[in-house]
Amino acid sequence: MQSPKPLVVILATGGTIAGTAALATDTTGYRAGALGVDALVAGVPALAGHRLESESVAAIDSKDMDEATWQRLARRVAHHLARPEVAGIVVTHGTDTLEETAYFLHRVLAPAKPVVLTAAMRPASALSADGPANLLDAVGVAAAPGVRGVSVVFAGAVWGAVGLRKVHTLQTSAFAGSDCGPIARLEGGAMRVFRAWPGGEALGLERIAAAPSAWPRVEIVMNHAGADGRIVDDAVIAGTAGIVVAGTGHGTVSARMEAAIARARGEGVRVTRASRCVFGPVLPRGADDADAAGELSAVQARVELQLALLADVR
Ligand code: SIN
Repeated sequence: MQSPKPLVVILATGGTIAGTAALATDTTGYRAGALGVDALVAGVPALAGHRLESESVAAIDSKDMDEATWQRLARRVAHHLARPEVAGIVVTHGTDTLEETAYFLHRVLAPAKPVVLTAAMRPASALSADGPANLLDAVGVAAAPGVRGVSVVFAGAVWGAVGLRKVHTLQTSAFAGSDCGPIARLEGGAMRVFRAWPGGEALGLERIAAAPSAWPRVEIVMNHAGADGRIVDDAVIAGTAGIVVAGTGHGTVSARMEAAIARARGEGVRVTRASRCVFGPVLPRGADDADAAGELSAVQARVELQLALLADVR
């Protein structure tokens, strides 16, 4: 008897991949998250060869992603991963905060099975829609033997979550890693794997169990010519628990910004140093410097800091 095909669960959250516009030629004026998950799957006839289940977790523009939706998504991913018959999960998402959700799921779940996020730059109604191929590729990766961990499948490349960045406002090849290239590339239905699949230790769902309103506030502050640090002081007055500084170059800041950061630290605010540069890490200044963002972009460092501060929320 033939063994059944691997079962892949598609969890939809919205985004341009589920977006529709009035005209097939319109690739920018559309409503994200308008298509239901069943219509999304039905729009890719080649998926008929796969064994799929689908579920809607949200139908939002990913700019509106929030803690409550992250909690719900992580719980649904964990629920389906625990089912022995499920080989992998695909999460459809908007591109705008894809790197944040991918990193969030990676840190909270660090799954042994594949959790593959995908998205699109052009709405489903567009003549040149990129979502169908991305979704088909993502399902193929989620069903493939040997794949594990959280990854992002986009424009024929498979990226790890750590250090992933959306780097273009319009092009369909909109993502890049930091200094590391993709884990794999998808060409003509074949996957060429270059690096190990993501692993690591999961923080676990308990870490994110606090009510969304209780999640610590973490702001991102950018260094720039003329930065006087006042925005840091204002964030402290507003009650922020953490600040990620998107510094210039290798995470450096102006003298006045440095002084404001020192004042914030004095008030017990946790500070992470990231960079406003598109590529490259921010390395620790010494052996006991735990505040450098490493490969993480400023927005991913914000997720990391929020998860770290959640450890103190009882
Ligand atoms: C979104 O992030 O939900 C809208 C933009 C996109 O998916 O490209």
